[in-house]
Formats: sequence, structure tokens, C-alpha cells
Amino acid sequence: MNRLNIGLIGSGFMGRSHALAWRASGSTSPLDVTPHLELLADVDAATAGKAAAGFGFARSTGDWEALVADPAVDLVDVTTPNILHAPMCRAVIAAGKPLYCEKPLAPDARTAFALAREAEAAGVPTFVGFNYLRNPLTELAREIVQSGEIGEVWNFRGIHAEDYMTDPKSLWTWRLDPKGGAGAVADLGSHIISLARYVVGPIERLCADVDTVVAERPTREGGRRPVEVDDQARALVRFANGAKGTIEASWVATGRKMYLAFELVGSKGSICLNMERMNELKLYVTGRSPVTDGWIEIPSTPAHKDYAGFIPAPGHQLGFNDIKTIEVAEIVRTLTGAAGQRVPDFREAAEIQATVDAILLSAKSGGWVSVDGVAKDAGR
Ligand SMILES: NC(=O)c1ccc[n+]([C@@H]2O[C@H](COP(=O)([O-])OP(=O)(O)OC[C@H]3O[C@@H](n4cnc5c(N)ncnc54)[C@H](O)[C@@H]3O)[C@@H](O)[C@H]2O)c1
Repeated sequence: MNRLNIGLIGSGFMGRSHALAWRASGSTSPLDVTPHLELLADVDAATAGKAAAGFGFARSTGDWEALVADPAVDLVDVTTPNILHAPMCRAVIAAGKPLYCEKPLAPDARTAFALAREAEAAGVPTFVGFNYLRNPLTELAREIVQSGEIGEVWNFRGIHAEDYMTDPKSLWTWRLDPKGGAGAVADLGSHIISLARYVVGPIERLCADVDTVVAERPTREGGRRPVEVDDQARALVRFANGAKGTIEASWVATGRKMYLAFELVGSKGSICLNMERMNELKLYVTGRSPVTDGWIEIPSTPAHKDYAGFIPAPGHQLGFNDIKTIEVAEIVRTLTGAAGQRVPDFREAAEIQATVDAILLSAKSGGWVSVDGVAKDAGR
């Protein structure tokens, strides 16, 4: 196989980003096979045809099941609304093809663990789009923590806040469909949970509160529909390694556009990373002289993992679609055996989902909840 034929389902925000990433991946890093934009599916033939022409796909279809069954498609990439992930993933697993799905994987941990088990039983490699883990400076933060440079991690303060649902006149969309899972805590909270797990480790217990601040929203058809999912969530968390912290998620954070950030406090130093400034990592280490004591700001440079494939010069900055490109290149390397798996698989996505479910359960019960217990109850 010298080419990997991609079948992409969905051509919205993420569909476009994935198409750009697949196209760029071969030119930013050496790959044993070249991703090829083979077939794109969307809700109907016209939508799919238009997107396929724009994105550079060879063929298009209005029938996603035909895409999954198409013998020329080697890997299926699912970028549709959350509620469609499980049925689409099940069809791909049945077809035995490598599978890349956007986050959140499923509406709940039970479905996510079931998908993980089904894929494992079928021997299907799986990948989920927690792309912020692929920011070279996220990797740096993890390396600094693992090296012991900032000592024992004492506190993680993490947040993913945006404001795209602040306006009560914003339409009711698929993101508010309770059949697709939770609200902001699944849509955005899953990203900060994935970062917390990647940099600090698993969350053992948590105590959470969630609420809905816009009770109903207008529908596209001219009516109004109640909002049954959370707009904002916050949790006190305790990590398995003893670290403590907080996790917040909100899509009604007036003024915030992409505030996915964490501040990590250790016994010998601290780290801040904010994806609104994803090319700057702030580091504080103890032991400097009183006259130079303070934070240092580290720009992303070719010395950081995956940066050099894009730009040979330091400080020239990567963006969202670049970290998506790193993610898909890593998927290709995993599939060809050129590297171990760095992109989260369905099992890791199910663990993240169990943390989301634990937040909802705690908010309902009003007490501390064991994430491990939630995962076990969900069939881990
Ligand atoms: N990783 C990230 O940073 C990130 C960012 C945004 C969205 N997402 C995730 O990506 C997924 C898609 O979000 P989006 O913002 O791109 O949504 P979107 O609404 O912009 O796009 C969804 C696409 O799916 C298509 N679609 C819907 N039903 C379909 C069907 N039955 N068959 C084929 N195509 C169908 C739509 O026509 C559209 O092209 C969601 O799961 C979301 O959570 C991830």
C-alpha cells in the first residue's frame, strides 16, 4: 500500500479541517503511505459534490453507508454531529476499516466503552480527534511534568470556555440535542479533560455543578425549543496521583473565543498554557535569583515536537489546522507501524467520556463521585 484512501463523512467545520490536514500531512512529515482524498459523503449528493470539489476529493456521495462499504476506501473519517458517531462507527467497525472519529465519541460512557470493545474485538484501529494534545507545547508541558522539573504536581486549574451560545437568540442546533449527550461539558469539557489526563493523569474523584442559563432557544423552523443540556459546568477534581484541581467548561462565557487553558502548579515550578495563544508556554521555576525571579515565556520553535515539519524558523507559529495535520500524520504513522499510538483511541475516549458522565452524575447527586466507579458501571 503506497496510498491510504480516505473516506470522509461530513464537510462542515471539522470536515474542512480534516480535509486540509489529510492533504498537508504528507508534506509536513515523512509518511510511508500518502493520504489520498478518495470519497466524501454528506447529507445529500449536491452538498457532498460541492464540498468534494472544493476540498479536492476524487468522488462524492449522498449516502454515508455506501462510503463505508466502498472497496476503494481504506480509512473512514467521521466528522458528523455527535448523535451520528455511534451508528457510523459501528458500521465502520463491521466493515473492518481503520476509524477516525471526532470527539466526543459517544453520548455516554456506556456507548463509548461498547464501541471500544467492539473495535478491539474486530481488530480495528481507532483514533479520536482530541487535537489539542498535538500542540507541540502541550507535549512540552507533559515532558516538563514527567521530567520532574516542576516537582510534584499540586494543582491543575483547567478551563475550556467559549461564547458561541451566549446570545439567547442563537438557534437550537444539534449540539443541544440531549440524545447526542451532554452540552458544554461534553462539547468543550471533553477537551480540557483530555488535556488534564494527558499532562497530569487520570481523575479519580470529582464533585461538580452544572447549569443551563438559556432555558429555551429559537428553532430554524420558527418555533422555540427548551434547552435540556448544560451551558456551563465546573468540578473540583482529585487525580489518582494525588494532585488536585478544578475543571470548567462553558459555551456561554461572554467574550471568550477559544479559552482552552490550564495552570499547573508544582512544588518546584508552574506552567500556564492557553490555546488562544497556543504558541506560548509560560514556565516558572523556583531557585532563580531574586532579581531574575519570574515567569519565562517560551515561544514554539523547531526544537519542539512536530513543529519543524511546518516551519524551519522559531516563533513563526502554528494554528488549529496545523495541529490537526499533526494528528492525522500521527494516525498514518500508527497504521504503518512507524510509531506507537499517540492519538487517543476509543478506549481513551471512553475514559474521557466516563469523566464527563461523572460530572453529570455528581451535579445530580450533589456529592463526590468516583470516576472509576462510573467507568466500571458503564462496562469498562
Ligand atoms: N476536535 C475539535 O477541535 C472539534 C471542533 C469542532 C467540532 N468538533 C466535533 O466535530 C463534529 C462535527 O462538528 P462540526 O462543528 O464540524 O459540525 P458541522 O455542523 O459544521 O458539520 C457537520 C457535517 O456533518 C454533515 N452531516 C450531518 N448529518 C449527516 C449524515 N446523515 N450523513 C452525512 N453527513 C452528515 C453535515 O451536513 C455537515 O457537513 C462534532 O462531533 C463536534 O463535536 C471537534
